[in-house]
Amino acid sequence: MINLAILISGRGSNMEAILKSVKKNKIPIKPAVVISNKSDAKGINIAQKLGVRTEVIESHGIMGANWDYDKKIVTILEKYDVTPKNGLVCLAGFMRILSPEFIRHFKGRIMNIHPAILPSFPGLHSQRQAIEYGVKYSGCTVHFVDEGVDTGPVILQAAVKVNASDTEESLSARILGQEHKIYPKAVKLFAQGRIKISGRRTVIS
Ligand code: GAR
Repeated sequence: MINLAILISGRGSNMEAILKSVKKNKIPIKPAVVISNKSDAKGINIAQKLGVRTEVIESHGIMGANWDYDKKIVTILEKYDVTPKNGLVCLAGFMRILSPEFIRHFKGRIMNIHPAILPSFPGLHSQRQAIEYGVKYSGCTVHFVDEGVDTGPVILQAAVKVNASDTEESLSARILGQEHKIYPKAVKLFAQGRIKISGRRTVIS
């Protein structure tokens, strides 16, 4: 059985979608811990209500990728038996860049959700970038995390039509609806051992 850790910074709606789906759809993965880098993240309460242990590793004032900070995450993950052998680390609105050391440690076992069809609109404010660029479709991407920003092998994507009347808020809300579908699906595929990484690609069996 895979042990699942979810890293959050705020609202935690993707975390909630994953945890509820694990329960409802009997996904063969054990939610071991939710870690927040912010003590006031709304998602912490949600995780606790869903019966998942939570930890806060405050990152206030620690800017950029920082292995010393990330080592604290590794220590907590080990405490909950989430390891490079048996673990999956899902970033769900975790607004920190992980260090190359952390990424190498959990190679092929870290996933992220991004609110755009990568490689378009990486980084921050992707929905605003999509509207400003004038694309007719945007969406969301679940990908493995590599040492770049939003550059790792793509696992699943969902497209969302951009309407002429869309604001950043309305587009974000529709994309979020799709995020809540594809992220649990990707976790399920991983738990079932159905995702292989082959260079830049993932192969799903
Ligand atoms: C989600 O829209 C997620 O795709 C985005 O932050 C939001 C978190 O919401 N992540 C990024 O922009 C990462 N670059 P949530 O806390 O409700 O899941």
